[in-house]
Amino acid sequence: MPMLFRWYGWADKPAGEELNRLGGAIFAALCSPAAVVAVGSGTALVFAGSVFTPWLFTKLAVVGALVALHVRTGYVLRRHTEMRRAYAGWRMAAATMSTSAVLGAILVLVLAKPRFEPRALPHWLTEPGSLQPLLSSILPMP
Ligand code: HEM
Repeated sequence: MPMLFRWYGWADKPAGEELNRLGGAIFAALCSPAAVVAVGSGTALVFAGSVFTPWLFTKLAVVGALVALHVRTGYVLRRHTEMRRAYAGWRMAAATMSTSAVLGAILVLVLAKPRFEPRALPHWLTEPGSLQPLLSSILPMP
């Protein structure tokens, strides 16, 4: 999609409209339904399997980043193609690299399924109320 946005800035009007249609079709007919299926089936799996593990929450955080990138792509698709604005090379590189990094992280998470041990974290991050003694010494309450 970022490459499409870049080409769009260079293309003449008929070619630009063709690219615009292609981008819209990829976004609306392929990416958005895939996102709905992933989130819907994943949510069903959470409740079916009662899976509440650090692995799942890590995956959800990374999938959340992918959703944010998807929404951003939809915004750029509309704004740039409707206003026929140029899309800078550095933006294409940044969008491609960040999306590839997020996709790569998801693939590593779901294929390697690493075990995250909460015990590796400091205890103040895993026990509710662990920061309280620290704060009460800084801000003594009557
Ligand atoms: C791009 C998005 C996603 C991909 C590629 C993906 C992929 C996968 C894969 C390959 C597995 C099987 C892992 C195994 O071998 O046990 C899995 C399991 C699972 N996924 Fe996803 N997933 C995605 C998004 C989501 C979302 C959004 C949710 C929740 C809302 C979710 C919830 C789950 C749950 C609950 C399991 C079962 C985990 C278990 O039984 O240990 N996934 N996913």
